[in-house]
Amino acid sequence: MKTNIVKTTLVAVGLVLCSSALFAQQQKATDMGKREFENNCASCHGVDGKGNGPMGEFLRRSAPDLTLLAKKNGGVLPMGRMYEVIEGAGVAVPSHGVRDMPVWGREYRIDDAQNLIEARGNYDAAALVRGRILMLLEYINRIQVR
Ligand code: HEC
Repeated sequence: MKTNIVKTTLVAVGLVLCSSALFAQQQKATDMGKREFENNCASCHGVDGKGNGPMGEFLRRSAPDLTLLAKKNGGVLPMGRMYEVIEGAGVAVPSHGVRDMPVWGREYRIDDAQNLIEARGNYDAAALVRGRILMLLEYINRIQVR
């Protein structure tokens, strides 16, 4: 009887350990903000966000170091401004006219429409764009120099 309890406990502990290892792995595999950043932003802003991406030399204005945004703003990340710059709706960016920074709101809407072609527009396009931008903001928050 006693050995049964010990065996059951061991199996239970084993299961918990396995599932938490799997969970940790999943967490790592789905760092969506990081993935989004590496896919769409690193070419200009650099993989580390410090503004040294390979596209830099083709830009009129160098891509800013995104890891210093909080520091330059009194320690607070300017979330609203960042959201608007990324989304691209009517924000006065200094290099306006032809903007070097792509308008991600539009890019994402086109991208989602292509990925979800089967859905035939039956999804909340604005919410998907918002979700992708919020994941980016959360990631940029994590790479801030404090
Ligand atoms: C083609 C190059 C390029 C790509 C790709 C790019 N950016 Fe930018 N980004 C810039 C430039 C250049 C600026 C400076 C403003 C301007 O000139 O348009 C900028 C500005 C910004 C700013 C404003 C910084 C500030 O000082 O307020 C944020 C935030 C930002 N980018 C985030 C992103 C994110 C997130 C992505 C990916 C979804 C991205 N950028 C992709 C070139 C790029």
